[in-house]
Amino acid sequence: MNRCCTLFILLLVSAGAFAQTIHSPNKKQTLTFSLTAAGEAQYQLHFNKKVVIKPSKLGIEFNGKPSLIQGFTISKIDSASVDKSWNPSWGEVKTIRNQYKELAVTLEQKETNRHIVLRFRLFNDGLGFRYEFPKQETLSHFIVKEEKTEFNLAGDHKVFWIPGDYDTNEYSYKTTTLSGLDTEKDRDKIDAQWPIKDAVQTPLMMKSADGLYINIHEAALINYPAMILDLNRSTFGMKSHLVADAFGNKAYLQTPFNTPWRTIIVTDKATEILSSKIILNLNEPSVIKDESWIKPMKYVGIWWEMHANMGTWNYSNETNLILKDTDWKSLKPNGTHSANTANTKKYIDFASKYGFGGVLIEGWNVGWEDWAGNWKEEVFDFVTPYPDFDVKELQRYAASKNVKLIMHHETSASASNYDRRMDAAYQFMVDNGYNSVKTGYVGRIIPRGEHHDGQMMVNHYLRSAQKTAEHKIMLDAHEPVRPTGLHRTYPNWMTSEAGRGQEFNAWSTGNPPDHETILPFTRLMGGPMDYTPGIFEIKMSYYDKIKPYPSTTPNPNQVHTTLAKQLALYVTLYSPLQMAADLPDNYERYPDAFQFIRDVAVDWDDTQIVEAEPGDYITTARKAKGNEDWYLGAITDENPRSTNASLSFLEPKKSYVATLYMDGADAHWKDNPKAYQIQKFIVTNASTLKIKLAPGGGAAVSIKPATADDLKKLKKYSGK
Ligand code: NOJ
Ligand code: CA
Repeated sequence: MNRCCTLFILLLVSAGAFAQTIHSPNKKQTLTFSLTAAGEAQYQLHFNKKVVIKPSKLGIEFNGKPSLIQGFTISKIDSASVDKSWNPSWGEVKTIRNQYKELAVTLEQKETNRHIVLRFRLFNDGLGFRYEFPKQETLSHFIVKEEKTEFNLAGDHKVFWIPGDYDTNEYSYKTTTLSGLDTEKDRDKIDAQWPIKDAVQTPLMMKSADGLYINIHEAALINYPAMILDLNRSTFGMKSHLVADAFGNKAYLQTPFNTPWRTIIVTDKATEILSSKIILNLNEPSVIKDESWIKPMKYVGIWWEMHANMGTWNYSNETNLILKDTDWKSLKPNGTHSANTANTKKYIDFASKYGFGGVLIEGWNVGWEDWAGNWKEEVFDFVTPYPDFDVKELQRYAASKNVKLIMHHETSASASNYDRRMDAAYQFMVDNGYNSVKTGYVGRIIPRGEHHDGQMMVNHYLRSAQKTAEHKIMLDAHEPVRPTGLHRTYPNWMTSEAGRGQEFNAWSTGNPPDHETILPFTRLMGGPMDYTPGIFEIKMSYYDKIKPYPSTTPNPNQVHTTLAKQLALYVTLYSPLQMAADLPDNYERYPDAFQFIRDVAVDWDDTQIVEAEPGDYITTARKAKGNEDWYLGAITDENPRSTNASLSFLEPKKSYVATLYMDGADAHWKDNPKAYQIQKFIVTNASTLKIKLAPGGGAAVSIKPATADDLKKLKKYSGK
């Protein structure tokens, strides 16, 4: 049903006298909009009868012009009821229902003769709202000093947070109460801008003492800075804080303009946070007409071997080179350069043998000698390969093996350089048979003074998504702003990092065992993450025998999961470009466990969040696109647990073979991470999987329709 009626009421209501309430289609959510006596806009949100957001003000502060904060009267109210469905090009489900009640309030500021529209959409699982600035004679160009959106929370909730930062989301999460949230005390030691005390990034996940799950983020971040939240630890009030530019300004705008949507997802079931489609629904439909070239795939790559310190991105050990003046062929090779033709062929062979769609090659192009830490503008040109990387030969070889090569464009955060070279770089990719690019923005942004998450960079990432689309190239962005569902509009923007990925396990204290139980509730709310799962050689000391770790032996770094949990991540951490991150040799030593990575799908008809609690555990089941196979992933934090995973989503009266990839009886992420066991059973939709997960452990299950032969040979799963 698609009912979209618009109720038009012309009202000139005096300040303070007005309140309007709407309910979500299922009546669980209630939004109340009102004006204060001073003519300030405010909203409240209830879930059933519980207060989620206490009266909270809305407004925009301008630089050099009177602000749009108070003195409002209401000139018009529109309401609508929408119920439509749409099919994403790829995704976690085949069809997405977009059902909401809308309230659009036009506010007049008489003194300045300007008006804005506040548009609210109330879904069954939460609220989205935005500011709209229609074109008008009295408002054309303006500079936003700050957005004054409040989120006044109703209690001292448990909160899963990373610090507010203009440049990075690559933190592990802290779990505290709102009153106990102390950004100074818990500050990690990585190079961060982190300008604001008691400020946090979104998506922010909270749980109230009375069992409500609340998630605050944004949708459709376009031509505007990302939103951080400033917290008042005693009132539990939060305020929007936009990422600033070099002048301290927030956004340079021109009417007509709509801000991103502010989203508040609220439910009493943690599983429903993970299945919410509010953020995608608030984004615009795809602008790409022919999507036939956009294809989810698994990939391997010349990548982990550098993070494991077994090879280098750079071809020589010079440390001071000028891009345009260097004769790369005359440099002395260091002998450790990983992205050489022979090694790339090895990965192509591996991908082809085991059915991977793509091979990522990092370090193929000149400029890595002094790429990091120098705040250097002309660092890469994106079209010149190192002397030992034969672009044409590899194009031929990869095509002959039916494997796609994925190009890497590390920009070293020199966005101005990348902007100038983007067209040539993407054309070079087309000319040499590459249809996917992984970009990267390590370091401090150039233009200097800009930030990763400010308006200028938000526009830059989108320009890269648009230009790659023009060239029929799929995009995977590392170190961009956190996603806000724009992959609906630009489905070639397959995935992003924008969070603390697997790589931290290779060379730092790493990601704690609860990290992956929090990520889906936080970073992944806005879109897929290129986390790069699948590390089998869990302890980095494994490599000491090949090359001793520079500072200590044995190398103390390790992945903070069991091997079985690495398999489960293919299901619990969604990405349509999904890496098998470990080295080919490491996979070939564990062919039975590797089988799960070979089998698991990357595009889905259905997703069922079976059980979940942020910071503790997640069990997710997904049905592969276009066939009857299901894959289930279950993960736990540092505590052991047993799944209680009902398979009721399977088709009734049908038998399936479940292959269970489980932690070994004595597995433990630290003491015994590689112990695993694999068992096969017959299951039906009446089965409930009770699988023991080790501390930091997990389980992966593939579920496929059973043949007559399977039914004869295999035992029925009994839950023991
Ligand atoms: C950081 C990225 O996240 C990682 O994947 C990449 O290998 C390095 N930068 C080098 O570009
Ligand atoms: Ca990174």
